[in-house]
Amino acid sequence: MTSLLEQAEQTLEKAQADINPRWYPRYHLAARAGWMNDPNGLVWFDGWYHAFYQHHPYSPEWGPMHWGHARSKDLVHWEHLPVALAPEGPADVDGCFSGSAVVDGDMLSLIYTGHKFHGSPDTDDNLYQVQCLATSRDGIHFERHGMVIDTPSELHHFRDPKVWREGECWYMVVGSRVKNTGQVRLYSSSDLRKWQDEGIFAEADEGMGYMWECPDFFTLGGKRLLMFSPQGIAAEGYRHRNLFQSGYLLGEWQPGQQFTHDGQFIELDHGHDFYAPQSFLTPDNRRIVIGWLDMWESSMPEQQDGWAGMLSLPRELSLGDDHRVRMKPADEVTALRGSYYPTPACCLRNQKVLITADAEAIEVQLVWDLNASTAEQFGMTLGEGLRIYVDNQAQRLIVERRYPEYSLEGTRSIPLPAGGVLSLRIFIDRSSVEVFVNDGDACLSSRIYPDPALRDLSLFANHGVASLQEAGYWSWDK
Ligand code: FRU
Repeated sequence: MTSLLEQAEQTLEKAQADINPRWYPRYHLAARAGWMNDPNGLVWFDGWYHAFYQHHPYSPEWGPMHWGHARSKDLVHWEHLPVALAPEGPADVDGCFSGSAVVDGDMLSLIYTGHKFHGSPDTDDNLYQVQCLATSRDGIHFERHGMVIDTPSELHHFRDPKVWREGECWYMVVGSRVKNTGQVRLYSSSDLRKWQDEGIFAEADEGMGYMWECPDFFTLGGKRLLMFSPQGIAAEGYRHRNLFQSGYLLGEWQPGQQFTHDGQFIELDHGHDFYAPQSFLTPDNRRIVIGWLDMWESSMPEQQDGWAGMLSLPRELSLGDDHRVRMKPADEVTALRGSYYPTPACCLRNQKVLITADAEAIEVQLVWDLNASTAEQFGMTLGEGLRIYVDNQAQRLIVERRYPEYSLEGTRSIPLPAGGVLSLRIFIDRSSVEVFVNDGDACLSSRIYPDPALRDLSLFANHGVASLQEAGYWSWDK
């Protein structure tokens, strides 16, 4: 009998050949075919970076979750590996949900949520989410050990374990929902198999969400960070505009103590599409984050093409003097750079200047002198649907996408930085844009769906002058 893993491979092999590549990423990780959501089990093991991800190999829609798998030497060139986990039951019969990976001696251990219904899947009353373990020596084939933590009584939503080591002990944070309050629970273990309940680690205040998904906990710049993806926070002005957010609380913690924090939830990314980020440490101790570059319930036109969902570029986190998390592209990302093409213009006045006719996969660098720029609006356009520009009246940097044919229209924005210089690194791939501001101050990430025949990239300035200190782009180097 063919196993579920073999079935998945056979399906993917066929489906991969039928993909329409018009929006399939050149240098971001996406599934070979079918559906992808959260990054899972990001880890350095045996000389490779591994990225697993939530995956439905059988269609470009969410379905019974598998763990897709890829590995890389440098975080930007990925090699697909066989699907690592399939919902083979009994603990995960309806899906292998999100989770994490740790290296335990010479073993790679995956800790993930087994998703199952006892009875009809139409009601949460029948939902059970339990934490499971699978291990591997070669990092490719996994032995499943089933459930290691059962659903606590009264809970149904209890998922996305993130495990780390501290001293002699393993710790795990798990996201959960208690009635309409999001929570993070803490567990500890000496062997990854027997876990002790350490109680509620953090909990939503009024209005801070009914469910906290994908918690992650780590040290950054001497502080402790709880990163998570809350559901149910209402939009307020420019904040929390996406259906769901991802962000962090900053505080203090020591084993055996309470996690104390200032209660300020800060969003990590300000674009349309960034969710369920997970972090990991590189061998040289950098804290890298990768997120899902999509948003639940927003339209994904690439589904017509046989695939859906992609992961963000790897981003390095650090803590600023102002105690804000800074997020910039991981150093490895420069490996993508091919030739550099400086732009011809350094000053634009009521004009539009073509930079390149086919911006399919490029990194653009733009350093604007804000003090010398009087134009009401100035920035960059890609095809007919994307503008990244400064609105001088609103004093904001705006990412605007307009793809009415796919019901994707609207803006996301951040205030202009103080100091008079706006330095942008803009990564364009076939269906994504990631804008990094002033070397880590802020980031805006969105999916885009340009007509492949209309990918011209231009700079513009309306009603006045816009001044560039530096500008150019790197072609993509395979
Ligand atoms: C987050 C999430 C997780 C869950 C997974 C299911 O996007 O909802 O909470 O484990 O996706 O695919």
